[in-house]
Amino acid sequence: MSEISKYVDQWLRDAHAMEKQAESILHGQVKRIENYPELAQRMQAHLDESTSQRERLEACLERRGTSASGVKDVSAQFTAMMQNLGGVFAGDEVVKGVLASYAFEAMEIASYRILSAAAEAEGDIQTAQLCNEICQEEEAMAGWLKENMASITTAFLGRAQSDDKDAKR
Ligand SMILES: [Fe+2]
Repeated sequence: MSEISKYVDQWLRDAHAMEKQAESILHGQVKRIENYPELAQRMQAHLDESTSQRERLEACLERRGTSASGVKDVSAQFTAMMQNLGGVFAGDEVVKGVLASYAFEAMEIASYRILSAAAEAEGDIQTAQLCNEICQEEEAMAGWLKENMASITTAFLGRAQSDDKDAKR
């Protein structure tokens, strides 16, 4: 097996672990959000998308003759940082959640751009196409967050100002 192929396999497994993390983070966030229905809806949609991404990566790994199992969790450290940022006990968790989600999307976008270039270098066009396709879904999520983070912040601050206990999430 070529060095390039080894890296592509390794990075696909990293991406698979990253999607598993995304599923668990988004699941936690969707469950906790109560008063920001559009945010909850978009996160639920991206949760479903992340599950499908994980499944597509599994099929891709299988086609390449390798598997996703038994991999160290490379994004664990990042996730720990996110959970701190997400600060479930902080009053501003909805805002911190948006911040952390946007940061996570940036990591996903970079991961799939890198993977796509590597798969292309290897000559596995099918994998490169899959990574481009997933990358577009991540960009759409990042775009939504970018478009909406100001209004979510304003809504949060408006509620906080009026001492609304619902502001928190
Ligand atoms: Fe993803």
